[in-house]
Amino acid sequence: MERKPAAAAALVVVVVVVLAAALFSVGEAAHPRRCVTSTYRRKHQASDDMPMDADVFAVPPGRNAPQQVHITLGDQTGTAMLVSWVTVEAEGNSTVLYGRAADRLDLAAEGTTTRYTFYNYTSGFIHHCTLTGLDHGTRYYYAMGFGDTVRTFWFTTPPPPGPGAPLRLGLIGDLGQTPDSNSTLTHYEQHPGDAVLFVGDLSYADKHPLHDNNRWDTWGRFSERSVAYQPWIWTAGNHEIDYAPEIGETVAFKPFSHRYPTPYRASDSSEPYWYSVKMGPAHIIVLSSYSAFGKYTPQWKWLEQELKRVDRETTPWLFISAHVPWYNSNNFHFMEGEPTRVQFEQMAVDARVDIVFAGHVHAYERSHRYSNIKYNITDGKCTPVADRRAPVYIVIGDGGNIEGLADELTWPQPAYSAFREYSYGHAVLDIKNHTHAHYAWYRNHDGNKVTADTTWFTNRYHMPNHDDSVYSNTAYV
Ligand SMILES: [Fe+2]
Repeated sequence: MERKPAAAAALVVVVVVVLAAALFSVGEAAHPRRCVTSTYRRKHQASDDMPMDADVFAVPPGRNAPQQVHITLGDQTGTAMLVSWVTVEAEGNSTVLYGRAADRLDLAAEGTTTRYTFYNYTSGFIHHCTLTGLDHGTRYYYAMGFGDTVRTFWFTTPPPPGPGAPLRLGLIGDLGQTPDSNSTLTHYEQHPGDAVLFVGDLSYADKHPLHDNNRWDTWGRFSERSVAYQPWIWTAGNHEIDYAPEIGETVAFKPFSHRYPTPYRASDSSEPYWYSVKMGPAHIIVLSSYSAFGKYTPQWKWLEQELKRVDRETTPWLFISAHVPWYNSNNFHFMEGEPTRVQFEQMAVDARVDIVFAGHVHAYERSHRYSNIKYNITDGKCTPVADRRAPVYIVIGDGGNIEGLADELTWPQPAYSAFREYSYGHAVLDIKNHTHAHYAWYRNHDGNKVTADTTWFTNRYHMPNHDDSVYSNTAYV
């Protein structure tokens, strides 16, 4: 008799627990983490690079005209812009005139010139000039080629670091110079962002005999139509290494480093391949998959310090770009990113990184917020688990290049994988405010631009417990 109240209490507890579990499961069922493998199948044969005489590679008219014009941030926040171009017939000068109106270029900056050889290739004169003293969020016009053929371009500097300004970020990777590459760039240009975060593998010149560096020049002329007008943030990929001991070329990143400088010193980095920039509400950390990253290496130590410098009140959004993905459910390059994941994932989770962008795999994939940081060799906890503290991982190596698509998925689709498809395309991240960012991946759908995967991301610092996997909206055919 005396045990009745205890039994009743136990019954109440059981009922409460069961009800709570039921409610929780209903909540989960209403917002399941969907894992979608797109059923869209594009013909996926590899395309050849566009021919050397393709119109997109045309040399601009005029004697010794500046060509391959491209810009990237010249300091950490965009009050400087680094302008690069090539002259072929003669060195010419490295002066850039700039100002707030095309007919009033009242500022001047003096640059430098470099050249390099690669086996039997000698580059043109590569000019680099940093325009300083710029105001944020301001349109500037700039011109170079004085004494020969003057060409004029323009760009808009990013908004100042701060949580209020919106920012539209293009996401392109593994672009190459095939007709597919051309479609991707054309689709991006239809509604371009403020800047492009490029996740590596630019020209694929190394796929040609002797790493034909003329293909670096054609890629520079092809991409100029976008990258002369807005900064592209460069990440080094494996096709930038250009290590070719068989022809005596043993200096890694030789063409890339001569042509595409980065503002690494502004973020206290010691090498051009890992650095950070801050644009409006975003703090973007670029890492190098092909530089030493083990504990105590310069890159590892820099990242450790850099994460301490991040101020989420000023720059609420924190992103990492690295060429090799840490999460990839494609047989192409499967597990290649595992050493970097093991080294950096705990740091990324602890720092509440919002998104980690990667390329390398020629397909598209977006993850749920998952982590795999429990495993300690002996505990057996080696399966990624849902983790709201963790970044979303996006593989955007689908720009379209001479190697073709990565068309072998692993099965079953892992629970962390939210959406995957092997088509070409690009993505855009629209940061609306300090809590919400809209994201869309656009497939190259046989000549058309089709929205294929969209979602909202909520900020890991300002909405740390919000489960943003509920927003996923994929349109696949
Ligand atoms: Fe790659």
